[in-house]
Amino acid sequence: MKINNEKTDILSVLFTEEQIAARVQELADQLSADYAGKDPLFVCVLKGASFFYADICRKMSTRIFMDFIAVSSYANNSKSTGVVRIIKDLDKNITGRHVIIVEDIIDSGLTLQYLTDLFNSRKPASVKTLTLLDKITEHKLVIAPNYCGFEIPDHFVVGYGLDYSDYYRNLPYIGVLNPTVYQ
Ligand code: IMP
Ligand code: MG
Repeated sequence: MKINNEKTDILSVLFTEEQIAARVQELADQLSADYAGKDPLFVCVLKGASFFYADICRKMSTRIFMDFIAVSSYANNSKSTGVVRIIKDLDKNITGRHVIIVEDIIDSGLTLQYLTDLFNSRKPASVKTLTLLDKITEHKLVIAPNYCGFEIPDHFVVGYGLDYSDYYRNLPYIGVLNPTVYQ
């Protein structure tokens, strides 16, 4: 791993703050219409989805509830290990609730598939998935998100919550990581 600085490590800006904010508003409008009167529980998948989650929750015009889960599916590199581990589970019982899992990005789909199956085993009223980014890859599992911000090409991206080995999470935009960092 060769972290240098933002100027050399970020190849290009994929989405600006303004582009993200505009899409978040559109998604919130859609979700507010779809979940009106259902008191949905928005579940944030820590830590990557944190900025997206905070932004979309505060744009919702219908009543929602919030809870957090932390999972680990990656070691300190840019490849999936295929192992999903629960680090922090939900605080609340979701039986009979309308649950929306809020993720930062889908790569293989393994993390979201795992969480969907886990939550479905707890007898909720429904489980739907919302991801900010969906990566177009060849190693995709069957799962497709119910709501998606943007589809992106198969690059490793950072910023707006997304990290590389905990670096660059707090960039206000989403950028493509220079492969020299992880090659
Ligand atoms: P999946 O289980 O293969 O779908 O991987 C999903 C998880 O991997 C996400 O929640 C992210 O934490 C992480 N991830 C996948 N691709 C990227 C990326 O391009 N940048 C940062 N994190 C990523
Ligand atoms: Mg991550």
